[in-house]
Amino acid sequence: MIIKKAEFIISAPDFKKCPQHSGLEFAFIGRSNVGKSSLINMLCDHKGLAKTSAMPGKTLLINHFLINNEWHLVDLPGYGYARNSKSMRNKLEQMIAQYILHREQLVNVFVLIDIRHEQQKIDREFIDWLGKNGVPFSIIFTKADKLRPGQANANAQAWLKALDDGWEEYPPHFITSATNKTGRDELLNYLDDIMHNLPT
Ligand code: GTP
Ligand code: MG
Repeated sequence: MIIKKAEFIISAPDFKKCPQHSGLEFAFIGRSNVGKSSLINMLCDHKGLAKTSAMPGKTLLINHFLINNEWHLVDLPGYGYARNSKSMRNKLEQMIAQYILHREQLVNVFVLIDIRHEQQKIDREFIDWLGKNGVPFSIIFTKADKLRPGQANANAQAWLKALDDGWEEYPPHFITSATNKTGRDELLNYLDDIMHNLPT
């Protein structure tokens, strides 16, 4: 898969205002500050495409990026940012849930996990919710450049192992770094595979 063109289309305040199109969508979700927007920029090789920030809570809308005039990457707001008010968190959670459950173009959700941390309750609850609702998803471990490679692998394995108490198999998973482009080729190939192997 080669990304020749990536352009911002719209920031939608809810799934009903998402653009109408017949292309496929892949969405990126995870805790605030985990690196969703940075990963989209890394995949597209386009630094300022999705807005990033060292302050959590930067992305608050459903941002659509059109790739190669054909399919979309979608940057979702982070969940669980503790400094947002409860009503704000509820609003974002609803916006995310509605989009994931009702968006027909959506073919896969990527759940981003900071590779430095143990499995957190909020992430586990989120993927259990995806499982319960039959939503196809994959895990992307982010910020691998912050650890030695051996440690990054060990952390990813330990995170997956923590699923043993409820999951029969591990979801597809990738170790990435937006800083040094680790995992870029694997992820792009994976998107390609999904696009070409969808049931018709
Ligand atoms: P929200 O939109 O606020 O939910 O955050 P986000 O998940 O989109 O995170 P964002 O991409 O804005 O990145 C958050 C911070 O982490 C920024 O300071 C990024 O520069 C940094 N960051 C993201 N990815 C990486 C990475 O792979 N390595 C390192 N070292 N820093 C990263
Ligand atoms: Mg963001």
